[in-house]
Amino acid sequence: MNVLLIGGGGREHALAFKISQSSLLGKFYAIPGNPGIAEFAECVENISPEKNSDVVNFAREKNIDLVVVGPEAPLVNGLVDELEKAGIKSFGCNAKAAQLEGSKIFAKNLMKKYKIPTADFEIFTDPDAAKKYIQSKGAPIVIKADGLAAGKGVIVAQNLQDALNAVDEMKNFGAAGSKIVVEEFMDGEEASVLAFTDGKIILPMIPAQDHKRVNDGDEGLNTGGMGSYAPAPVVTREVAKRVEEKILQPVIAALNAEGITYRGCLYAGLMIKDGEPKVVEFNARFGDPETQVVLPLLESDLLEIMLACAEGNLADKKISWCSDCAVCVVLASGGYPKAYKKNLPIDGITKAKTLGALIFHAGTKSADGKILTSGGRVLGVTVTAKNIRDALEKVYKCVDVIKFDDMHFRRDIAAKALRK
Ligand code: AMP
Ligand code: GLY
Repeated sequence: MNVLLIGGGGREHALAFKISQSSLLGKFYAIPGNPGIAEFAECVENISPEKNSDVVNFAREKNIDLVVVGPEAPLVNGLVDELEKAGIKSFGCNAKAAQLEGSKIFAKNLMKKYKIPTADFEIFTDPDAAKKYIQSKGAPIVIKADGLAAGKGVIVAQNLQDALNAVDEMKNFGAAGSKIVVEEFMDGEEASVLAFTDGKIILPMIPAQDHKRVNDGDEGLNTGGMGSYAPAPVVTREVAKRVEEKILQPVIAALNAEGITYRGCLYAGLMIKDGEPKVVEFNARFGDPETQVVLPLLESDLLEIMLACAEGNLADKKISWCSDCAVCVVLASGGYPKAYKKNLPIDGITKAKTLGALIFHAGTKSADGKILTSGGRVLGVTVTAKNIRDALEKVYKCVDVIKFDDMHFRRDIAAKALRK
């Protein structure tokens, strides 16, 4: 089976790592890929993943049997719809289904209509009306831009003044900010549950926890994610059952009732309080860095599962997971999530691998045989072990041998799991 992977971050490297273990795999390509993915797949950099017709032509030319779409932008942009028209199978959802991530308003209205637990909300196009509403509700309160805003369109305001300022800041998100969602603040602990779905049935993966804030103790700015671990003990067996029955199955059914078939990976970002999960957000793709801890624990053949999702045959599949724990520490460029330098040489990747780490490239490039930084999140360092404590001890030993100028990372990944 010939496979084309779309994307070039840590998530896609983790996908490539797992796909490469499949007995079904024939030729393997990535657009654009990265130096880590290049170990498994031929990386094609002269085709833009944003140009659907170019991707479709490439897939035709190379007799691709399955296209695996990593990031949200091509999903929202209808790549899967175009591939389907050309008779090419994909793991990833169509553009209508991707609205679940692409439009907060679509997602919130769907949850309201089908009674899926989430924060109460109101939608505004007029900033003054939004401010009036915020004054009537008080803080803490959450303000969100409607469309894809690269993870930056959400402001959790702790006081009234910050909330009112946030409404003005929404203008900075362009089209995404012209409609604003004002949402009730939810207290609790966050977790990410990713699930495979073929549009009918849904099979959840091992629950994970991300670390969104840039600094230890969940301080500082929101990022794409500074580290992750799995399984997340906050998602107990009972919580997992509620997530499946009250959130995952109902949302697939709700989409079907609206005439939308969702196939691929569905990501539920959850807030859990007293064992009751509520939806913070849905994503239409694998999470990053969650994927970097979830997939190393998967024992089943990933390609076989992905093909079953694409073909609507997931009911016949059983998915098995290893009973180990995994921890991922993200190594970021100094300054991230704000401006940062690029092209800094990275040392120690090979040494860290010999110590037992999986190194996932998130923002790197290769030049003259050296690996250089090229993004905010540079590497994900993942270790699996019998328990979180052992994984943590080992992962930070591996992190400590990797160096680049101004490198920064969190020292408290999985601390919440240890406290439990
Ligand atoms: P989102 O992009 O919607 O996932 O929001 C980014 C982050 O903001 C989430 O991971 C939460 O930490 C936080 N957040 C979003 N919505 C809420 C809410 N209603 N209550 C509390 N925190 C929230
Ligand atoms: N780690 C958060 C996300 O993938 O959206």
